[in-house]
Amino acid sequence: MTTDWEALYQTGETQWDKGAASPALLAYLAESLLTGRVLVPGCGRGHDVRAIGAAGADEVEVIGLDLAPSAFAGVELLPNTRFVMGDLFDLPSDFSAAFDAVFEHTCYCAIPRERRDDYMYAVTQALKPGGLLLAIFYLNPRDNPDPTLGPPFNATLEELDTRFAEHFTLLRSEVPTVAFPGREEREVLRLYQRF
Ligand SMILES: C[S@@+](CC[C@H](N)C(=O)[O-])C[C@H]1O[C@@H](n2cnc3c(N)ncnc32)[C@H](O)[C@@H]1O
Repeated sequence: MTTDWEALYQTGETQWDKGAASPALLAYLAESLLTGRVLVPGCGRGHDVRAIGAAGADEVEVIGLDLAPSAFAGVELLPNTRFVMGDLFDLPSDFSAAFDAVFEHTCYCAIPRERRDDYMYAVTQALKPGGLLLAIFYLNPRDNPDPTLGPPFNATLEELDTRFAEHFTLLRSEVPTVAFPGREEREVLRLYQRF
């Protein structure tokens, strides 16, 4: 069944939205910046978009992509951030090899298993060769490991290893020391570089 994300925003059923950027992203940005053009797919209300933009100042331009127009309603932007309404699986042609980095947070877990290769190819297509994928993968949103349940859908490290090995080198992988309440030990931070 396809999820009607727009309807969820309109009815306020957005329990994934914690009103703030990912704690693990903020910890990462305290040590290292994301610079150049950065794409945040499935950005929702843009908390992570603004955090990356605020940290990188004039060294970064951040584009948040989401297919639900109501996600952006009344949302503030910084001068170096903007939102694009669109589908990750049908990216505008000017997004091809246009990004120095992609930031993933709770978009991958929103994507059903049968479309996750498409997710990987879309991110690969958007990145320049040598570009970075920084991901806070929410691996286990559900206690029930049945992979068909969702969204959010669970994922495994083995799945990530298999899926991303084709186009990416894994530079870093660790369990974040900070997380939203309830997500502790359920996330993994991964930094990949596109071949
Ligand atoms: C679980 S929400 C997470 C939102 C945001 N990352 C956050 O943490 O608040 C997943 C988001 O992905 C968006 N989304 C789902 N499929 C998408 C697609 N194919 N292209 C673009 N956005 C998509 C939804 O509209 C939704 O805003």
